[in-house]
Amino acid sequence: MTTAPRDSIPVIVDCDPGHDDVFALWLAAGHPAIDLRAVTTVGGNAPLEFTSLNARVALTVAGVTDVPVAAGAPGPLARPLRTAEWIHGKNGLGGPTLPEPAFALDPRTATDLMVDVLEAAAEPVTVIALGPITNVAVLLRDRPDAAARVREIVWMGGSTAGGNATPHAEFNAWVDPEALALVVGSGIPFTMVGLNVTHTALVTADVRARLAATGTRTAAFGDDLLDFFGRTNEEHFGLADGPLHDPVAVMAVAQPDAVRRVRTRLDVEVSDPVTAGATRVDESREPNALVATELNVERFWDAVREALAKLT
Ligand code: RIB
Ligand code: CA
Repeated sequence: MTTAPRDSIPVIVDCDPGHDDVFALWLAAGHPAIDLRAVTTVGGNAPLEFTSLNARVALTVAGVTDVPVAAGAPGPLARPLRTAEWIHGKNGLGGPTLPEPAFALDPRTATDLMVDVLEAAAEPVTVIALGPITNVAVLLRDRPDAAARVREIVWMGGSTAGGNATPHAEFNAWVDPEALALVVGSGIPFTMVGLNVTHTALVTADVRARLAATGTRTAAFGDDLLDFFGRTNEEHFGLADGPLHDPVAVMAVAQPDAVRRVRTRLDVEVSDPVTAGATRVDESREPNALVATELNVERFWDAVREALAKLT
């Protein structure tokens, strides 16, 4: 395990790298408040074999080779996989030439690795989910005994202000709404970090310069990723500075006072073919979730920069 300080929070990151997932892994690995115990991968931005390779590439670049990475669900619980090649490229990590990962995939399934980490931990473990939430749903469905040792689930996905995969649904929710409904309904503390907040984490020219100035190999590789991510976001969404969604969910765990949230009722549209994946909040009803409403952007980029400076 990365040598985290004693009072750090044990964390499992489930992800579908993905350019922004990579920065989230780096923030989790480099932030002193987080003890990254394991990484699991899911089909999402790209097919599972790519996201499982890309997660290990991200950790290899950062010199983190002692955190197990296990592959999980290739696709959603009840639908075919739909990927986001238009943003992340066919291999899920378009842009730089990818180095060979320094370590192999863990032979366990994502569920078995999650269970082993949960059962070995001296305290409940936080799960940070950054893709379609299929792996977390499978854990809660198949291993409720181990799921009882989850401290909270913090998920990048959804939105209180319209989608990006469709006008109604954000991509992670759109890919597997059944999994999201199962997780939200589980009763385990759940925080949604949606587009309404992550769209303020804009990779401006100034941000890119600040991150690149750390001068590390990780920062240089990251700048190549941001170059590609910025171009595809502009081409597809007309967003000059692509929002770096996933590390905001990590920030919500590492520095919770930097991410404002409200307790609210959260529901997921599952059956309507047009609005499937839409996440609807209603603060007038009995709350079942926390929903992020605001990010301290300056502190966020400082935390990302400090993590990049700490990693090789
Ligand atoms: O909609 C943005 C989310 O979908 C991010 O997690 C991105 O990596 C993709 O998974
Ligand atoms: Ca993601």
